[in-house]
Amino acid sequence: MCGIVGYVGPQDAPPLLIEGLARLEYRGYDSAGLAVLTDRDKLRVVKQAGRVRELVEHLPPGFGGHTGIGHTRWATHGPATDVNAHPHTDATGRVAVVHNGILDNAYELRARLAADGVELVSDTDTEVIAHLVGRSQAATLQEKVAEALGQVHGTWGLAVLHADHPGEIVAARNGSPLILGVGNGEMYVASDLAAIVRHTTTVVLLDDGELASVTERGFSTTGGKAAAEIDVDPAAYETGEHESFMLKEILEQPETAARVLQGRLDDRFGTTHLGGLEMTPHESRAFRRVKVLGCGSAYYVGEMGAGLIEELARIPAHAEPASEFRYRNPIVERDTLYVAVSQSGETLDTLLAVEEIKRKGGRVIGLVNVVGSAIARACDGGIYLHAGPEVAVASTKAVTNMFLGFALLALHLGRVRDLSVADGKRLVKGLEELPEKIAEVLETQDRLAEVADELAKAESLFFIGRVRGYPVAREGAQKFKEISYRHAEAYPASELKHGPLALISPTMPTVVIVPDDDLASRNVGALEEIAARGGPLVVITQPGVDLGGVQVTRIDVPASEVELAPILLTIPLQLLAYQAALALGHDIDKPRNLAKSVTVE
Ligand code: F6R
Repeated sequence: MCGIVGYVGPQDAPPLLIEGLARLEYRGYDSAGLAVLTDRDKLRVVKQAGRVRELVEHLPPGFGGHTGIGHTRWATHGPATDVNAHPHTDATGRVAVVHNGILDNAYELRARLAADGVELVSDTDTEVIAHLVGRSQAATLQEKVAEALGQVHGTWGLAVLHADHPGEIVAARNGSPLILGVGNGEMYVASDLAAIVRHTTTVVLLDDGELASVTERGFSTTGGKAAAEIDVDPAAYETGEHESFMLKEILEQPETAARVLQGRLDDRFGTTHLGGLEMTPHESRAFRRVKVLGCGSAYYVGEMGAGLIEELARIPAHAEPASEFRYRNPIVERDTLYVAVSQSGETLDTLLAVEEIKRKGGRVIGLVNVVGSAIARACDGGIYLHAGPEVAVASTKAVTNMFLGFALLALHLGRVRDLSVADGKRLVKGLEELPEKIAEVLETQDRLAEVADELAKAESLFFIGRVRGYPVAREGAQKFKEISYRHAEAYPASELKHGPLALISPTMPTVVIVPDDDLASRNVGALEEIAARGGPLVVITQPGVDLGGVQVTRIDVPASEVELAPILLTIPLQLLAYQAALALGHDIDKPRNLAKSVTVE
């Protein structure tokens, strides 16, 4: 949420900053801005509400300099206006700050500054940092920033410029990601590798509480960090031949799914090798409950995962939105295994839930995609998801790998308990076959596009399923509403007749998830009830399922081991959402009001 980029070196900063911001826009896209120090050590700022491309159109002539910072915003304090856009400056106009995060004592500090005669021009929390830095009497810029940060509470990834300290950027991190990029005679600061990967892959990952001073000659951090080379393919941050990141990421799934399984399946004993769990078999056996925590799609996959764990390991397992968990003073038990699920590894609600569990002495493992992210670091061990960078706001390939991560975990927990070798081997084989089956689902793209065109015409839709199918329906509805802006509501198929059936009509389609399991015939009952009331039906199912004579649009995914069906049934829902949004002409990678990586509570 909010993207930050900074540059210091021999090149003209604005084009590099603009390029970086365009690549960071998925983190927030309601306003953008730049600040540069000119060659005469003057600070110039340009910022406005709207997209980065609109900022480019409004860059004043001669806007240049060799030291600069930029920001793309997702509004928290105050609406998306020109004034609230970052960078924020102090009263003298000599300090500029870009910030990602939230200051908890902003109101108090604003009141204090106002009482001292400071005129605050924006509604933001960030502006106070600019004033505090500007008022500091400390000698170096790093000391000034440290002094300012000593007065604020909250989270930040930030970069600061000061006209009295030309050729320098001070960066700081606390709860919001920030990295330094080391170039050849030049340096970068960024909230995310995406912004700088085309220029350097030598980076420094700052820790919470750490500050860094960056000049073209190099950097120093308060933690004494050294730079390290990271192994990343810059192409992962490009759409390539695809028209959007979302489509690219959907189509990558056969490959990315294979990656999370690689080296982790054991055919011989029908189990998995998960060294990252850092758990002995004895410890794995001792858990009496599993609690899964995640937000949004990660929570819905968490529900699928809890189902898998309960089924394979026969341990009571339950998923809960991480955003709710922390606020109800949860009981944390020693014999419960807590599992935090997150693509970004930054989602603040999930991170705070992990911290709450740890504070109460619980054991948490992470199913996380971004290596070294805050949640991954906060957990006691875990399973990296290896989906590669996910740029589209709507999560797809990471969701699939989360499910597979759960399948690996469930198999492990099952095999140290009562799951037989035969069942273990059956599931290992089933998992090995999944990437190919996902590829088969992707081949139905054209047909799904036709169905999506029809669904896109409806203002409101139901997504329903039972037991295994219900979290799939929830994830399907989430994806659909997120990018098509249609009202899509998920319901357990069994609950329809207890109320929502009243809404069924010829203008309200229902997407029904029917895995080939022992509930298939019961699902047919729900189909009949909907059909009898004239409701259009789209059924996502598997070849063995007999839908009787009900009139439906049927989409089959390949047959699979029954426990693994949820993920195959999820893939067409990603494509339906994508195609519907396309038909409606929406900005697929940047849906309105949203941003990737929700680093606010
Ligand atoms: C939906 C979506 C969000 C995220 C949620 C958690 O497509 O992307 O619902 O799943 O914000 O994000 P992570 O997984 O980064 O913790």
